[in-house]
Amino acid sequence: MFPLLVTGGCGFIGSNYIRYVLENDPNLCVINLDALTYAGNLANLADLEGHPRLRFVKGDIANPQDVRQAIGRGVSGIVNFAAESHVDRSIMDSGPFIRTNVVGTQVLLDAAREFRVPLFIQVSTDEVYGSLGPTGLFTEKTPLAPKSPYSASKAAADLLVLAYQHTFGLPAMITRCSNNYGPYQFPEKLIPLFITRLLQNQKVPVYGDGQQVRDWIYVRDHCAGIEAVRQRGRVGEVYNFGGKCEKTNLEMTHLLLDLLGKPKSLIEHVQDRPGHDRRYAIDCSKAERELGWTPKVSLDVGLKQTIEWYQTNRSWVATVQSGEYRSYYEKQYGRI
Ligand code: NAD
Ligand code: TYD
Repeated sequence: MFPLLVTGGCGFIGSNYIRYVLENDPNLCVINLDALTYAGNLANLADLEGHPRLRFVKGDIANPQDVRQAIGRGVSGIVNFAAESHVDRSIMDSGPFIRTNVVGTQVLLDAAREFRVPLFIQVSTDEVYGSLGPTGLFTEKTPLAPKSPYSASKAAADLLVLAYQHTFGLPAMITRCSNNYGPYQFPEKLIPLFITRLLQNQKVPVYGDGQQVRDWIYVRDHCAGIEAVRQRGRVGEVYNFGGKCEKTNLEMTHLLLDLLGKPKSLIEHVQDRPGHDRRYAIDCSKAERELGWTPKVSLDVGLKQTIEWYQTNRSWVATVQSGEYRSYYEKQYGRI
């Protein structure tokens, strides 16, 4: 059988997904295509180094040559995680977001057509739906109304995927998930940033009033959802995934402080994010009904496991914070 091409497998969710599929599908071989941007870290897959069913290719999804090279003689599917993923960075400079998230997806879609790839999964986000008021949930039928450069670039990619499916019959599907947390998340996102700062007794910056709501899902539950789509998803469909766990940012901050035994004086209210989405909340009943999937890890258990991971992997944190992780590729493979 041809291998599965996973893009962005050195990032947070991609690395967890590769670990998940290699464990759960003993016949599957994986090619991991990753450009190793600041968010890509080979150490995220250090435990799988030398794995006989995993191959790493350094390359850019927006470069057709790199993509062709990774596909080689053919692949059984493409799961596209590769993206610029941080909203704050997209507000500072949207250029890399358009290049990777939009152009990169288009290049992958064209390659999927050229090589007649039998399955294309676009890993997207609930942020494409925009922001909710105090009530209601995003369903797969909610109109796209992205509000940040990041979510706009992801929505553009989603529309391209659906257009390629419609126009060319490309066997594509889209997953849209809420906020993930868990091991190997780059400490720029809320949960890993706050855990790593609190472990060092540093203050944590809560944007604005901290009353913004996010739905939190443990990363392995998201990986199980993507895997269910790979196994049982219907072509042309969109599947929402979520943790059924809405929390305001301040509630989440207090939970982390309590679990880590740190004082409330470490909370610092800082200037709000421009255009900050107020509330995300997801209806994932379609995935539950059609795929037999449901989120399994409670916030309490997931947060405890995540904190424990950051506590026991202090060298991972230290090399990320110092920037040393960026030289792993050179050390292993020679010059970038
Ligand atoms: P991440 O930022 O941790 O990782 C992104 C990975 O993509 C990195 O390894 C990076 O090197 C790689 N990459 C970036 N540009 C590339 C390019 N041009 N070519 C090849 N590789 C490239 O992101 P993440 O949090 O793991 O998110 C993965 C996917 O899931 C993204 O598409 C994101 O939009 C989506 N998503 C994330 C969340 C979340 O909470 N983190 C929620 C829903 C959906
Ligand atoms: P983040 O993890 O960046 O995910 P997203 O913006 O994609 O939802 O942020 C989660 C929430 O936490 C969001 O409402 C912004 C807020 N936030 C803070 O209050 N302080 C911070 O330092 C960060 C990174 C985020």
